[in-house]
Amino acid sequence: MKALVLSGGMGTRLRPFTYSTPKQLIPVAGKAVLEHVIDNILAAGITDIGVIVGDRSEKIREVMGDGSRFGARITYIHQAQPLGLAHCVLIAREFLGADDFLMHLGDNVLSEGITEIARAFTAQRPDAQIVVQKVADPRAFGVAEIDESATVTRLAEKPAVPRSDLALTGVYFFTPAIHRAVDRIRPSARGELEITDAIQWLVEDGACVKASEYSGFWADTGNVDAVLESNRRLLDEVRPQRHGEVDDASVLTGPVVLSPGARVVRSCIEGPAYIGPGSVVEDSHLGRYTAIGAGCAVRRTLIEDSIVQDGSSLSDLRRLSGSLIGRTASVAATRRHRLIVGDDSRVEVAS
Ligand code: TTP
Repeated sequence: MKALVLSGGMGTRLRPFTYSTPKQLIPVAGKAVLEHVIDNILAAGITDIGVIVGDRSEKIREVMGDGSRFGARITYIHQAQPLGLAHCVLIAREFLGADDFLMHLGDNVLSEGITEIARAFTAQRPDAQIVVQKVADPRAFGVAEIDESATVTRLAEKPAVPRSDLALTGVYFFTPAIHRAVDRIRPSARGELEITDAIQWLVEDGACVKASEYSGFWADTGNVDAVLESNRRLLDEVRPQRHGEVDDASVLTGPVVLSPGARVVRSCIEGPAYIGPGSVVEDSHLGRYTAIGAGCAVRRTLIEDSIVQDGSSLSDLRRLSGSLIGRTASVAATRRHRLIVGDDSRVEVAS
């Protein structure tokens, strides 16, 4: 079986970060979302991976390389425009050949992996298998209706009046039957070739489409709140690692990942927390669910429930919470507010 990872798209909901970096490279719990995706795929025993990339493909290639670093073989497939999830299947046809494949959205986090579901798909081999989860408001998702034997009877993309509360997660298993479907469907009202339409086409054509309900944590990291929630959930699973240096005046509690070359000086770190390679935390308090990237400096600052990306510095901040800081950014407190803020940024200051 092969895997197809979708890492193109516009990422408009994560601007301004996505002006410079594809959203799939935003780190949660110290690692790019895309790297968590690759972990899931490798754990399911799949090493032949096609990655759909869009405009900023060079960044993704820089991080993922040819896959040999993690024992995989990556084939990049360029999508000139984000014309939909089924369009990705269409342009990956040469790579996919006549193989079954797992399709994984590059911005989706499934914290407990997908190994069991992959095994079930391989054993039963329905024409297609979707992975669903109950959600409170299904209107923003693809929605599936299933019968008592978990056979899909109908699918709809973002229905105004949902007929079930089962949302499609970003993981799908396909046999080559899907190629016939993506050839037949037409673009939706929003101009995209929808994968839900392709799967619905299979259902109407009499194909066997199964659904498995995912019991672990699932998130589509398409917006800041979902990125922070994924960070919390994945940090909850980290095991403490102590590679860097901690001076005698510092206290670490709970699971803390201290990467090689990191330094903690006169500070208090409450795990779960992650401190990246070469970062320094001085005279500061890192509260729970904080992930600091590589090469950062945090001084005289209290920060909690936040992500700080590589090369950034924070100083003299009384309490930073629920924040997502980009790469090589600088945030400092002074006696007045002086802001240099990029397009589409969002700033909330304490009054
Ligand atoms: P979406 O989150 O649906 O789309 P987007 O990236 O354009 O985000 P936004 O709505 O904020 O503008 O995409 C889900 C995943 O699939 C994501 O990893 C991007 C990827 N994708 C492609 O690779 N090609 C496509 O044509 C589309 C629509 C998405």
